[in-house]
Amino acid sequence: MPTTETPGAPPAEERVFRPAPSTVIEANVKPAELVEAYRLAAADHPGYWEQAALELEWHRKWDAVLDDSRPPVYRWFPGARTNIVHNALDRHVHIWTKNKLALIWEGEAGDCRKFTYFELYREVNRLAGALRALGVGRGDRVCLYMPPIPETVVAMLATAKIGAVHVFVFAGYAAKFLRERVNEAGAKVLVTADGFYRGGKLINLKAVVDEGLADARPDVAETVVVVRRTGGDIDMQEPRDLYYHDLLRQESPEAATEIMEAGEPLFWLPTSGTTGKPKSVVHSHGGYMVGAHHTFRTVFDIKPTDIHFCTADPGWITGHTYGVYGPLLTGATVILYEGHPLYPQADRLPAIIERYGATIFYATPTLIRMLMRYGPQYPKNRDISTLRLLGSVGEPLGPDAWMWLYKHIGRSNCPVLDTWWQTETGMAMLSPMPISLLKPGSVGKALPGVAADVVDEDGRPVPPGQSGFLVLGKPWPGMLTGLAGDDAAYAAYWEKIPGVYFAGDLARRDEDGYFWIQGRADDVLNIAGHRIGTAEVEAALCSHRFVADAAVIGLPDKIKGEVAKAFVVPSPQWQEAYADADAFASDLRAHVRRELGPIVIVRAVALRESLPRTHSGKILRRVLREEEEAGGKLF
Ligand code: WTA
Repeated sequence: MPTTETPGAPPAEERVFRPAPSTVIEANVKPAELVEAYRLAAADHPGYWEQAALELEWHRKWDAVLDDSRPPVYRWFPGARTNIVHNALDRHVHIWTKNKLALIWEGEAGDCRKFTYFELYREVNRLAGALRALGVGRGDRVCLYMPPIPETVVAMLATAKIGAVHVFVFAGYAAKFLRERVNEAGAKVLVTADGFYRGGKLINLKAVVDEGLADARPDVAETVVVVRRTGGDIDMQEPRDLYYHDLLRQESPEAATEIMEAGEPLFWLPTSGTTGKPKSVVHSHGGYMVGAHHTFRTVFDIKPTDIHFCTADPGWITGHTYGVYGPLLTGATVILYEGHPLYPQADRLPAIIERYGATIFYATPTLIRMLMRYGPQYPKNRDISTLRLLGSVGEPLGPDAWMWLYKHIGRSNCPVLDTWWQTETGMAMLSPMPISLLKPGSVGKALPGVAADVVDEDGRPVPPGQSGFLVLGKPWPGMLTGLAGDDAAYAAYWEKIPGVYFAGDLARRDEDGYFWIQGRADDVLNIAGHRIGTAEVEAALCSHRFVADAAVIGLPDKIKGEVAKAFVVPSPQWQEAYADADAFASDLRAHVRRELGPIVIVRAVALRESLPRTHSGKILRRVLREEEEAGGKLF
């Protein structure tokens, strides 16, 4: 196996790593089967996904695998009936997985809670009953504003079990964002927690809920279910607020599972786009279930003995698909960690791997770069030899972080699965398989049943090695079924280059068909793996009383991949309110944090007299970026 340290080693892109023979021998998908999978998918695309659907239980089978008669609306498994919770939970209580651990949770302070499938099933049933008693039914939206605690998983499953739709708002989003999502969803019930621990601090989540709901629509969030996590001092508003444990006390550990049409919604998940307005991506019970299950079983190569550590918060798509649904659909054991990854010190994640014997570690490049900065002694001082697969998602990993992960976490014998996908795709689309040859920095090939290409503006494939737009040529089961209440925005994905799904990423493909992702091609920032529209940050800045106009671009950052830089045209009175430009800038940064939440990091603020705009008034971010690269303009 080639090593990197040898003098005169080839440039990063030319390094190739082979899987260990034992990985190949034991893989769920062996080399000949992978060849066969590609062959079948190419010869009979729906047929390939039909095979994948047959791995799960259905109350009624489909009339057709795919209805593509009205593009760009694609319906997977029309006529079929199921409920993802039937497959993720109910069926396990009748088979050997009943008493297997489904969930291992570790709190930041070191507290630990474990749930077998049977225990999780009973808890989910109790909450399902309670939600029903609150009047929640099929198709109703339930908003979840929750930290990474076991009840979060319970709330997702209980909502889905009764046919309601979970709308998760990541607990790092601010009050205003929560209010907008609750309003948009028309959610009668909101499930939250009193607080949680992060970085040694108690975060009072309930206070944000109270602020967010203060001027929400009067007909939403009539009930707020509060999990007592910290026991901190919170304001319970009667009769709106109910404690989770009080509600569950009266409920039966049995509850019927609502049988859904395959295309009925399972969840909405807000994400950022180019329009400035967050959009809620909709996923369904049938197609999403097939995509999550199949990719988790094949790409993550899941075995009965695996313990999967997904560092993503359940509130992101990665948490939904590979932290909750994928693992439970395959009967795996998953680790959920509440707190900061470096708390109390940089060996926290290796310590968790050691403590529970994790076999798969799925993280983000930002996290890996953070660990890298602290140095290899942290993983080295822990026994992480149980690991057999590593994964990355959310932003470009790059060859250096790839090598570090491979060497210092994977001891040079765990394949690195750099998985490319999106909230919209619902499931991994481009990724190596455990048996693949690996190239550091590449996301591998399109998975079987996925048609991906790199094209120019007119949709013509570009030659190998050249950059272009990443597009997906054929529908796939995990795909979004729409955007909540916005058919035009959904159609826009397919109109930019007619007939194909425009992912919004720049990529190139090499001679071997391996993809290399270069970043977003649109006005979306990727800060520590979180998608943030420049227009959203600009709108937040413009809501400040001393801001007349604002433009935002991304700046490269060693750890977070990207951070925001703001160009602000102040209103004339700003100098009366602030001692100097620095004081103004730090208030603007705090304002954005308040408006959008701590995930939006504005690193620098430059004050300008005007902003470059096109005739039609569009901000010329390109000009700002060029200026920035040339060393910036003095204010
Ligand atoms: C980026 C996360 C490089 C990409 C699952 C995409 C990646 C956006 C990778 C989706 C990867 C995701 N390498 N870039 N392996 N995975 N991205 O919706 O720009 O939060 O369009 O979904 O993250 O982000 P989202």
